[in-house]
Amino acid sequence: MEIKSIALRNFALFKHLELSLAPTPQNPSNITVFVGNNGTGKTSILKALTVSLSWFIARLSTEKGHGSHIAETDILNGTNSATIDVKICDSLQASAYPDDTATDNDFHWRIAKARKGRKAESTSQLTDCTCLASYYRNALSQNDQVSLPLIVFYPVERVVLDIPLKIRTKHTFLQLDGYDNSLSQGVDFRRFFEWFREREDAENESGISEDVLHQLKPLAETNQDVWQLLNELKASTKDRQLTAVRTAIRRFMPHLDNLRVRRQPRLYMAVDKNGETLNVAQLSQGEKSLMALVGDIARRLAMLNPALENPLTGDGIVLIDEVDLHLHPSWQRSLCDRLLETFPNCQFILTTHSPLVISDCKNILVYTLTNGEIQELPSQYGQDVNTVLLDVMDTSIRDPEFDAKLSDLLDAIQDSNLSQAHQLLTELTAEPTNQNNLELVKARLLLRKQELRHASHS
Ligand SMILES: Nc1ncnc2c1ncn2[C@@H]1O[C@H](COP(=O)(O)OP(=O)(O)OP(=O)(O)O)[C@@H](O)[C@H]1O
Ligand SMILES: [Mg+2]
Repeated sequence: MEIKSIALRNFALFKHLELSLAPTPQNPSNITVFVGNNGTGKTSILKALTVSLSWFIARLSTEKGHGSHIAETDILNGTNSATIDVKICDSLQASAYPDDTATDNDFHWRIAKARKGRKAESTSQLTDCTCLASYYRNALSQNDQVSLPLIVFYPVERVVLDIPLKIRTKHTFLQLDGYDNSLSQGVDFRRFFEWFREREDAENESGISEDVLHQLKPLAETNQDVWQLLNELKASTKDRQLTAVRTAIRRFMPHLDNLRVRRQPRLYMAVDKNGETLNVAQLSQGEKSLMALVGDIARRLAMLNPALENPLTGDGIVLIDEVDLHLHPSWQRSLCDRLLETFPNCQFILTTHSPLVISDCKNILVYTLTNGEIQELPSQYGQDVNTVLLDVMDTSIRDPEFDAKLSDLLDAIQDSNLSQAHQLLTELTAEPTNQNNLELVKARLLLRKQELRHASHS
């Protein structure tokens, strides 16, 4: 399943906005990124998509299910009603009946909302949404191993990671639970922990737990055959869904390995970092948020694709607001490539403030937003970060005051106004942070050259 395009009318700050999402013929990757200053409407676009997609999830559960409505505060001020249109492409029905040329892969639905006491310009049209959901329900009724598309939104508030210390209740997880809170809060670490423990319990019942293997190691290693047999037995009983989660986390964070639930001395989630075992709560904020994000996508994919040998190849739509949140520049740089590599069949719609996210990935579709207007950007692949900052994010690389003084200094040198140049250079280098500034080092050399030239002329 994939969103092809979205059209907004009178939604948040947009009077009228229409755009296609990647993959497009020019941008064949599965990633669309929105960049723009604060308050330019990036989150609003993601919010509009969640409203639309919530209806599909609701109708997948029950025939007449209700998704979420456009909030009255999201209707453009001074207008009476708002609409959100989405075009979705899905090949489930076409793949079930390959000979039926009448089957269409495209589905279009509209969500509309008028202010209280006002007349709506348009009404919601959900026939295609109901129809698409019923295809999936029919398929599920015939075969309960059918794959369902992942649909999930990670809002900015996802950073608060509540790691539960005690879990009293035991939950049973069904396939449709892959959509639990998927559009409202994104990462649900409590559920993640519960789910992980449940799968691991099942894994340990049918095989050998990590801890037992660890305890047996000194004894069994004296006999290579026994050791090999134990390891093979462990590998053959590994849970496919847990393996997917562990693999995804390892791809993003190769220094973290062997995520597991420890039961002694109390229940907690442990992970190995550079050979040392840590409680997940001890990880840094960046590590925790990336692990939770990647782990959550992988867990939901695993739940929704019970029959896939590698659940990470499941398909779906993932919306992430401010994807660069808490991430170290080197992680931001590789983020898009890793998302594509790890989840090859998911469509990602991201927002960011970081030039690094868009400067290092080929074929992604980048939109920049300004004052309710949208513009598609040429590829930023290979551009250095300063150029992206200047061109796309409309930001000066340096502090504007520093910039102005530097430019005066260069003018003074050029005009041979040596005493003024000296004074400006002294002022600029007085700041401790500027002492080794490359531009100032260059300016000092230029000034020295100019002084020598003057001395030789006089
Ligand atoms: N009903 C409305 N009518 C008019 N303008 C609105 C309405 N609702 C929101 N806005 C405008 O839309 C902006 C909110 O946009 P949004 O939260 O999508 O920005 P953003 O690009 O995600 O910003 P940030 O980078 O700060 O997260 C607000 O700044 C506000 O000016
Ligand atoms: Mg925002």
